[in-house]
Formats: sequence, C-alpha cells, structure tokens
Amino acid sequence: MPEYTDWGSLTAACLQCRACGLCETRRNVVVGVGPKTAEILFIGEGPGENEDKQGEPFVGRGGQLLDLALHAVGLDRRRNVYIGNAVKCRPPQNRDPLPEETEACAHWLQNQIELLNPKIIVCLGRVSACRMIKPDFKVTREHGQFFEIGGRLMMGTLHPAAVLRDPNKKGDWFADFVALRAKIREVCTHTELIDPAEFA
Ligand code: URA
Repeated sequence: MPEYTDWGSLTAACLQCRACGLCETRRNVVVGVGPKTAEILFIGEGPGENEDKQGEPFVGRGGQLLDLALHAVGLDRRRNVYIGNAVKCRPPQNRDPLPEETEACAHWLQNQIELLNPKIIVCLGRVSACRMIKPDFKVTREHGQFFEIGGRLMMGTLHPAAVLRDPNKKGDWFADFVALRAKIREVCTHTELIDPAEFA
C-alpha cells in the first residue's frame, strides 16, 4: 500500500516537503506532469532554472527537444505519458543531485510509480537510470535496452541535455524512442499513439 493513496494527497504533501536542503533554495516543487492514466513514465534528474520557475518538468531547451522526440513517435506530455524527476526540487547551479537528496526524495517517486502503475519506465540520463535500473548502469553502452524489474519494463536513454551538448548523439537517442514506440505497441493496452502530423 503506498503512503498516499491518491494523487491529490500525494501532491499536497509533496509541495510541503522539507526533507532535504534543496527546500531552502527552491521556488517550486516540481511534482510531475501528464495524465494519471499514462502507461509510460519518463524520469529525469531534477528541475533546472526554468522548471523551478514554472513548476513543470522539462520546460527549458532540453524539454523542447524531449517534446520533439516524444511527438515524433506519437507521444505527448498532456495526452499519453507522465514525466517526473528523481528529485523534485532544483539543485543550486544545476549541479547533480547529491545521493542523500535523491534518497530523501525517492519515496515520492516510488509513491508516484505505485499510483500510476506504468507498464514502461524510461530513465532520462545516468542519475535516474542508476537509481531505477542498476547502480552501475552505463548510458553509453546500455541505452535503449529494456530491463524487466519488479514487473515493469525499464529503459535508460540519454538525457536531453547530453543530446543538446553533443548533437551527434541525436541518432542514438531517436533510435531509443523508436524502440520505445515498438515496445508500447507490444505491451501497452490503452496508449493511443498520436499521428505525428498533428504536431507539424
Ligand atoms: N532536467 C531534468 O532532468 N529534469 C527537468 O525537469 C529539467 C531538466
């Protein structure tokens, strides 16, 4: 049984969280975005400056790139995927979250997973892949592979910020989204893929 059994009480409590030092410098707690019926969950690392200001994950340049990749394979944050982060408050100067911050935040993510009950979890970048898939996950070698963990399929791929830094990685990244689309067709029961022409 999860600690919070509905999204309203989970969100209300999460917005009040003071379990680690990130609460001192945050403007907003970035809980997540997307329909609560989504069968696919994306997990990033933690909010950056724009996300902290707006209270929504992936709304900066990395988020625009993520939206493009999602749209290209028929997915959309408002319609058929949920997007959250390993930590819900912005680490100052966009540093990596410290292990104790990720640890303090983990029960929120776990509660979100239990409420959403996704068929597929996609980890964006090393921090969430090491947390969710295995501590020694290597994004360069293991991206795009599906692992069955606790009855769910999990895949790690590059973080959009890494693709922005090195556009040569776009091909690999996009191939992972194509593999995801194939897996959705195989295992998801009510995810309707959107015609990418709708976003053109
Ligand atoms: N990077 C992340 O990992 N998450 C966000 O929400 C924004 C940038």
